[in-house]
Amino acid sequence: MADLKYLFNPRHVAVVGASHKEGKIGHTVLKNIVESGYKGKIYPINPKGGEILGIKVHESVSSIDGEIDLALIVVPASIAVSAVEECAKKGVKFAVVITSGFSEIGNIEAEKEMVEKARANGMRILGPNVFGIYSASAPINATFGPSKICPGNIAVISQSGALGIAMIGKTAEENMGLSTIVSIGNKADITEADIMSYVFNDDITKVIFLYIEGLENGREFMELVKKKPENMQIVAIKAGRSKVGARAVASHTGSLAGSDKIFDAAFKQAGILRAESLEDGFNWVATLAACPKPAGKNVVIITNGGGIGVLAADACEKYGVTLTSDMELLKKTFENVMPKFGSYKNPVDLTGQAGGAEYREALERALNEDNIHAIIALYCQTDMTPLEPLMDTFIEMQEKYGSKKPIIYSLFGGEGTEEILEKLKSKGIPAFGDVEDAVSSLKALYTAYEKRKEEKMDEVEMDEEKIRKVISSVLEDGRKQLLGTEAKEIMAAAGIDVPPFRVVKSIGEAVEVAEEIGYPVVMKVVSEDIIHKTDVGGVLIDIDDKKEVIEGYEAIMRNCRQNVPKANIRGIEIAKMVPHGVETIVGATTDSSFGKVLMFGLGGIYVEVLKDVAFRVAPVSKREIGKMIREISSYPLLLGVRGEKRKDIDSIIDSIYRIGILVNRFPEISELDINPLMVYEKGAKALDARINIEVKK
Ligand code: ACO
Repeated sequence: MADLKYLFNPRHVAVVGASHKEGKIGHTVLKNIVESGYKGKIYPINPKGGEILGIKVHESVSSIDGEIDLALIVVPASIAVSAVEECAKKGVKFAVVITSGFSEIGNIEAEKEMVEKARANGMRILGPNVFGIYSASAPINATFGPSKICPGNIAVISQSGALGIAMIGKTAEENMGLSTIVSIGNKADITEADIMSYVFNDDITKVIFLYIEGLENGREFMELVKKKPENMQIVAIKAGRSKVGARAVASHTGSLAGSDKIFDAAFKQAGILRAESLEDGFNWVATLAACPKPAGKNVVIITNGGGIGVLAADACEKYGVTLTSDMELLKKTFENVMPKFGSYKNPVDLTGQAGGAEYREALERALNEDNIHAIIALYCQTDMTPLEPLMDTFIEMQEKYGSKKPIIYSLFGGEGTEEILEKLKSKGIPAFGDVEDAVSSLKALYTAYEKRKEEKMDEVEMDEEKIRKVISSVLEDGRKQLLGTEAKEIMAAAGIDVPPFRVVKSIGEAVEVAEEIGYPVVMKVVSEDIIHKTDVGGVLIDIDDKKEVIEGYEAIMRNCRQNVPKANIRGIEIAKMVPHGVETIVGATTDSSFGKVLMFGLGGIYVEVLKDVAFRVAPVSKREIGKMIREISSYPLLLGVRGEKRKDIDSIIDSIYRIGILVNRFPEISELDINPLMVYEKGAKALDARINIEVKK
């Protein structure tokens, strides 16, 4: 990884293309640097010479005597490459190339040349096609965005320049303090991973707000995120829907695995909070930047209105935020701070007449009670109390206790409450108009600090030689799709429970095998040319005796020869017929960015119609697989409904775990489905399987 110290803390800077004309980008960048209180030397570069903003202009970078750490390039694309070369030769450490007109419009060669020229002299490039860089530690605002940026502990890293500029505006409006804001632009050299690695160790950032459109190497990105300090959080907005969706895939899993769902899963695994909207993203980031880690799960709502309290309680249920119902604790803490007609039950209702003094008393008691871990303070505007003391109370509580315990405010009413909200936000206090936003932000805080234990991977035994042999014989045969029987052989070799089966080639053999396996059995045609076996009469179930085996064999052969005359029939599979359980589907696919990915869902309509599936990037620990299974909406069916007993979830976990290991040990398995994996009160059996292989040259 590059050492980006002097990109974020340049001692002296040059602005190549500093313009004399107000309003031009080269002028704004210089003006922002000056106004940001930058302490180092500033060298405006322009062949016209003269002065800009009272600073002497140099005609070229090479004519400067002193050292330069950072050059902002704001000349047109036609001269940007030579400008970069001149900077590199001068010994400038970093160039931030604001200029557009490179690979984003197909001008790939010039971009390559620019990087080569820079690298030849050890210079690194951010961009091209970026809005500049802001760094609070310098401090320097070398962007052409708004000039006023509040310093703070939030790092904004954006793959989109335009959105990045808008984010500067929005953070300024919301009074959010930034440690840095960077756009990555065309990533000709420095990438988001380089920037993140720097930010992980910059000693000021607490929260990273990431806007990404795509990742070339998702797996590397996940590895990188593992290196973040424990108390640094990442909130990401990911734009752009399914890319993989368009890819024609034979397997079930593949067709369900839009890349967006995989991003969702990967972010979850990596502990990144994914916000659906910018609004949520800003709310969560503000909350994470302001609040400490909650010491426990007990949340209390303090309100002056029953209605808004109930709305908040509903939102807590929706988001899974735990309201404490410990009556003894609530009574002891709040009984004496409210009128007789108030309620100390959670939500704690101070009633409509509560003002600054009542809120102070209640908040202070909650803040000093060790068994209350986070507070949602609600205020519904009434004409009973002046607003000013209320605001002072909230600010005082934040200053006194805000670093010890999370307090999140939601204020609802007219102009007066809006003013308080503004004021609270300007002090970096998490305050919202909508209770839903307050609760969703508190939930984000809890999720962010959820303990992520070190992923422990158990050893599993697999007959790798057998698996290798099956794959080789399929490849020798010139096929990419395995027969169902071959796929099941691999499953069995991987340690997954597969009901006994054999392929037979004659009636005599069929009878022999059926008797050996034991009735009832299932009979299925074995042919790579027949995909939908049932449709052509190639499957018979519930075969109970010798007579039925003989008749069944003849019937299947007759049906298949009649319906698919050209099919290469390799024989008939005789398999033990097993009782019905809960049908589930386990799959694996290969994602272009994240590599091997696992899928789980319940069979039938749950997968087909409701697309109720969960994904994880493989391999994955058993603990994480447990979470993956609980994630699907149809999960309660596995717990047992209408008097049924709980199904053997550990067996599902074990099967998925083995598939994760299998596809990583045998990367040529590109797609895999077990459909169904029949789950019982005890055990789970793979009744049918499909595998595709793809050998990368
Ligand atoms: N060295 C230094 N300065 C020079 C040189 C040179 N060799 N040659 C010319 N200049 C001066 C010019 O004289 C001019 O100064 P002046 O205004 O005092 O005369 C200055 O450099 C700028 O040159 P212009 O030709 O006027 O270029 P202009 O300002 O119109 O455009 C820019 C330059 C802004 C880099 C433009 O080419 C560009 O790329 N714009 C898009 C920027 C952008 O959007 N980036 C992505 C951001 S993220 C997002 O998506 C929003």
